[in-house]
Amino acid sequence: MNLLRQKRILLGISGGIAAYKSAELIRRLQDQGADVRIIMTSSAMEFVKPLTYQALSSYPIHTDLLDPNAEAAMGHIELARWADVFVIAPATANTIAQIVHGEANDLLSTVILASRAPLVVVPAMNQAMWANAATQANMQTLRERHINILGPDSGSQACGDVGEGRMLDVADIVAQLGDVFKNDQLAGKHVVITAGPTREAIDPVRYISNHSSGKMGYALAQAALEAGAAVTLISGPTQLTTPERATTVQVISALDMHKAASDACQDADIFIACAAVADYRPIDIAEQKIKKNDDEMSISLTKNPDILADISHSHDSLFTVGFAAETHDLIKHATGKLERKKLNMIIANNVGADSSTGFNTDDNAVEVLYQDKTSIKQQSFAQCSKTILAKQLITFIAEKHPS
Ligand code: CTP
Repeated sequence: MNLLRQKRILLGISGGIAAYKSAELIRRLQDQGADVRIIMTSSAMEFVKPLTYQALSSYPIHTDLLDPNAEAAMGHIELARWADVFVIAPATANTIAQIVHGEANDLLSTVILASRAPLVVVPAMNQAMWANAATQANMQTLRERHINILGPDSGSQACGDVGEGRMLDVADIVAQLGDVFKNDQLAGKHVVITAGPTREAIDPVRYISNHSSGKMGYALAQAALEAGAAVTLISGPTQLTTPERATTVQVISALDMHKAASDACQDADIFIACAAVADYRPIDIAEQKIKKNDDEMSISLTKNPDILADISHSHDSLFTVGFAAETHDLIKHATGKLERKKLNMIIANNVGADSSTGFNTDDNAVEVLYQDKTSIKQQSFAQCSKTILAKQLITFIAEKHPS
């Protein structure tokens, strides 16, 4: 499974001779389908010009904490939030010490402090610096904080020394980086996910639908796969590439989605209804294209089945998770849906006109309500990329799902 596809990788380049290898790293990560943005320290710019990386990444290179132009384009906090994973390659002894001490005295160290994405440190330095007790103590601190460390390698060094401290080969970094996204939280479980909108035909060329992009459902499917689950993704029409290794069933209408989800849930452990299902469909679908004759026209609609409510009421042992997209009274409406639809959990998000999260956006922030013995509990998930959020939600679902 290609775990780097569609991942947003923030690459921090600090000042060592191995910085030249980071150019190759950018290309190889892009080959995997990753989106790469770059932060350089001022000493990295002594080794390689930002233009080299800019030409490769096709994004501006971030170098300065106090650059108003760069901050206007994508501020450092936004950059920290953007990342699905933050890779520091090469990580010099100085950058490692900055991380250990929580310093925020340049752009790279500040974004490291501000980011919630998993951090991957790829050390590169002279063998004596690597062996120094201070560096070794710093590395021990990183391990204790569960920060991912790749390498270093040993062999001949640019300075003529031989020993441990060389940056790991680019191919090995790429091969090992995907493991950051992997875990076995849902190993052996079958997870069924609905995603995207449905389309309810009016005539052969028109339909009723909504603005759902499917991104959240697809991100959940990817995160569930990375957590070791077998995943059935039932998708309405979207522009997205289906996750490798998921069994994907493409559907158009709510009735098609209902049938596919009911079939897939026969042997499922967890059902996550993320689709924005059309609540109503035209009673009659015209066989020919409807011509515009009168000044007014009306279409009679009938209610679609509630896929989630139907499945949760007919499968007692299935762990059911719904979504509530609301423009107002988020918690009140979400609690009502949790109870009415007999769910284990509901993920509520604000889709009001002033919201930067939800439908058709890359980021999301949600409130999760879940049944805990006899009461309903609430947990907040702060705004971040849908990939990171999906990972956090899958971890949360795995924790709350009785195994
Ligand atoms: N859902 C579903 N089938 C439907 C409608 C909704 O499976 N016919 C699921 C959605 O996938 C989501 C949850 O139910 O997980 C809540 O959907 P939402 O449209 O917000 O709620 P409704 O019950 O349709 O209520 P309303 O439209 O009144 O807000």
